[in-house]
Amino acid sequence: MGHMEITITNPLDMHLHVRDGEMLQLVAPMSARNFAGAVIMPNLVQPVANLQAMHTYAERVREAANDSHFTLFMTLFFRNYSEKELRAAQNMPNFFGIKLYPAGVTTNSDEGVRSLRAVESTLRHMEELGIPLLVHGESQGFVLDREAEFLPVYRRLAEQFPKLIICMEHITTAAAIQLLNEHENLCATVTLHHLELTLDDVLGGMMKPHLFCKPVAKREDDREALLQAVLSGHPRVMFGSDSAPHPVHKKECCECAAGIFSAPVALCCLAKIFAEHGAIDKLQAFVSDNACRRYNLIPSKKKVILCDTPMQVPMEYCGYGQKITPLHAGEQVPWSIKNVEV
Ligand code: DOR
Ligand code: ZN
Repeated sequence: MGHMEITITNPLDMHLHVRDGEMLQLVAPMSARNFAGAVIMPNLVQPVANLQAMHTYAERVREAANDSHFTLFMTLFFRNYSEKELRAAQNMPNFFGIKLYPAGVTTNSDEGVRSLRAVESTLRHMEELGIPLLVHGESQGFVLDREAEFLPVYRRLAEQFPKLIICMEHITTAAAIQLLNEHENLCATVTLHHLELTLDDVLGGMMKPHLFCKPVAKREDDREALLQAVLSGHPRVMFGSDSAPHPVHKKECCECAAGIFSAPVALCCLAKIFAEHGAIDKLQAFVSDNACRRYNLIPSKKKVILCDTPMQVPMEYCGYGQKITPLHAGEQVPWSIKNVEV
């Protein structure tokens, strides 16, 4: 072993939370260092639900990331938008798509959608204009069944809006992969943590708040189905970290916030997984090519060279008065970033 290297061209994180304020200052550079671009989620305390808010948020993220080779793909928080608003959004340089949260299913989603029937006209306009719909697909049911219970909604959307690009965000189940295979207009993001974890890791032994996220990690056969899709280079499966930082005091407490902070270790851990399974040649498709093809993206030019020299993951990342615990805190990851070329 030793001295393996792989160069990834334009790695993209298709689902990223960078927050705002001090937390944004701390986390944005970590993604910018390792990725050529990212889809920025709109679930701020005050959701990003109009063009002005999106524009000013993009400016803040750009400034915090401080990297001219990190392309921002901005999303709006789903509500009923007029055709005029949607056309105006499309004319904005960083606009990417619209993220739909069912009301109340996760962090800052209280303003989410209560009835899909009531938003059909917006979906129709998005379909006609070619604006991607990104969906947090969970019901309000029993926690382990929430994704499965939402699958009929995905199916209905896929059938009712056959030209609409629908991304099933952070899928966690074998059943979701199966549905994906049945509809050409569905695609999906898969996180690093759902490739690594099952519910046993979260609470099968000592309870691990830093591994608690939504959707919660599921069963081993679900994890294996996700792995299989990703490692086989499934053309409609893309990497989205769902890296979702919360300050340590919001994780290590009685009401632990959902979210795993994986941005600084994501690429290295993916390299480990793909290498272990003899599928390192499929990593490029998962972390960049599939997304570029699906969405016609032109990311910034960035080459990230990974090598199999271990990376020591810090116990925490601190700065700007913030403290966050990353995925694999205190552990060694067998791959690291050797160099980044722009
Ligand atoms: O674990 C999660 N954290 N899942 C989500 O859907 C939202 C995210 C967050 O914003 O904290
Ligand atoms: Zn998310």
